[in-house]
Amino acid sequence: MPSLPDGTPIPALGQGTWHMGEKGAARKAEADALRLGLDLGMTLIDTAEMYAEGGAEEVVGEAIAGRRAEVFLVSKVYPHNASRRGAVAACERSLKRMKVETIDLYLLHWRGSVPLAETVEAFEALRAAGKIRRWGVSNCDVDDLEELGPALADCATDQVLYSLEHRGVEFDLLPFCAARRMPVMAYSPIGQGGKLLRHRALARVAARQGATPAQVALAWTLRDATIVSIPKASDPAHVRQNAAARELALTAEDLATLDAAFAPPTRKRGLAML
Ligand SMILES: NC(=O)c1ccc[n+]([C@@H]2O[C@H](COP(=O)([O-])OP(=O)(O)OC[C@H]3O[C@@H](n4cnc5c(N)ncnc54)[C@H](OP(=O)(O)O)[C@@H]3O)[C@@H](O)[C@H]2O)c1
Repeated sequence: MPSLPDGTPIPALGQGTWHMGEKGAARKAEADALRLGLDLGMTLIDTAEMYAEGGAEEVVGEAIAGRRAEVFLVSKVYPHNASRRGAVAACERSLKRMKVETIDLYLLHWRGSVPLAETVEAFEALRAAGKIRRWGVSNCDVDDLEELGPALADCATDQVLYSLEHRGVEFDLLPFCAARRMPVMAYSPIGQGGKLLRHRALARVAARQGATPAQVALAWTLRDATIVSIPKASDPAHVRQNAAARELALTAEDLATLDAAFAPPTRKRGLAML
């Protein structure tokens, strides 16, 4: 189980929420899917003020009503709201939508024009006020993390695009974070349910394992104990499959098949993001 730099253990497998809350008619089913995920132990929920412009946070609020203590709640502030006053106001709106007193981990969604140091100041004020327990960043590369300076010691995570299709962070970002005992959150770990899941190498490993391609893609992210993987699933069958991916132990042969099809990086590349 991964741990935060402050020693708090967090689940390796959580649940994403991008695109939830976009259609009123689907909200109940989405909240049900998140609750099913909680029942199955996927108790870290990742959301953002951006998703459905607050709609996803409302779905999360519905899903966790009466179960707040079970959940490790992650949300994110828009870069254009990440100023000293803007971040505080945005966080208060998020708390209200989710009907909670505090957010366990609050992230800068990506870097914008507000200086990082100012956002950190706002995050520290929110932490002192008990509105968030910790803060972190998203879509930040090694040079961005270095720019945090001494505040890097208080940064709880970096949430980045990481999947078989996007392995660039293995070159330097993952080792950089591991050296600081900072877990990395892998977003879009199953390639948004797109062409990754139709790849022949994934199908071959899935057949060998008696699993689905999505489960193999997820198990691959979870092979590294410092990674927290946050697939999004509104379909209950997907939720069940994803939860079961924790039981999948990829063999050396499986990993070699996947490495041959999705080569690990051999040089620095710019950080990929969605
Ligand atoms: N920080 C950032 O900038 C950033 C960017 C992107 C994403 N994220 C976070 O990361 C989360 C995950 O990323 P994502 O939503 O982009 O993509 P993802 O989790 O890789 O893929 C989600 C898609 O895959 C489908 N799916 C889920 N489980 C499946 C399974 N077992 N078999 C087949 N298909 C399955 C889902 O369908 P159903 O919904 O129909 O089940 C959905 O269409 C987001 O929801 C969000 O919380 C963060």
